Amino acid sequence: MLRPLTPADAAIYRRNRLRARKDEPQAFGADYAEEARKPLDFFIRRLSPGADWLTLGYWELDDLIASGILMRQEKKKCRHKASIFGVYVSPHARGRGLSRILMNGLMEQAGAMGVSHLYLTVTAENEAAKGLYESLGFEAYGREPAALKVGDRLIDEVLMAKVL
Ligand SMILES: CC(C)(COP(=O)(O)OP(=O)(O)OC[C@H]1O[C@@H](n2cnc3c(N)ncnc32)[C@H](O)[C@@H]1OP(=O)(O)O)[C@@H](O)C(=O)NCCC(=O)NCCS
Repeated sequence: MLRPLTPADAAIYRRNRLRARKDEPQAFGADYAEEARKPLDFFIRRLSPGADWLTLGYWELDDLIASGILMRQEKKKCRHKASIFGVYVSPHARGRGLSRILMNGLMEQAGAMGVSHLYLTVTAENEAAKGLYESLGFEAYGREPAALKVGDRLIDEVLMAKVL
């Protein structure tokens, strides 16, 4: 079941995020150690209802197995734009179409908010995520060289966009 996460989900959401940042550091901008220092309160605030910010989670029974964030821009001249980030499916649940369900949910919410342009970034080597986004109509419009440094390794990011 796909639904917006609420402050009551903060502990399980935090645990999943930390596991993702620890196990797959090359997939995310946020660093594990930095994330681990953030208290539960930070995530409670993050999941509190806000007009321009939404985290969707996919649940199987009590297990949160996929999540992703939609963030609409605040400035008046930029309110037609939103970004998607933090897209994650637990390793044991991959290959079953859950990321597609999650992304469709985020795009639907964006449309309902009145957003017309969606943006995201993906590391250049992340073939699975690039395949997902391309299959949903996102197109690359640029590339940031050396966007992330993971250990000693510099990783480029591809910038992608979709008009709803
Ligand atoms: C990328 C990720 C979200 C895909 O989740 P998933 O639920 O396994 O993907 P789905 O089963 O919904 O597949 C959707 C599409 O993604 C693409 N895809 C998924 N896994 C893929 C793989 N291993 N190789 C190539 N393309 C892949 C395909 O286009 C697929 O469509 P298809 O099945 O019709 O070919 C998941 O692997 C993940 O969480 N990875 C780690 C975190 C991450 O990289 N997040 C993205 C940050 S930008």
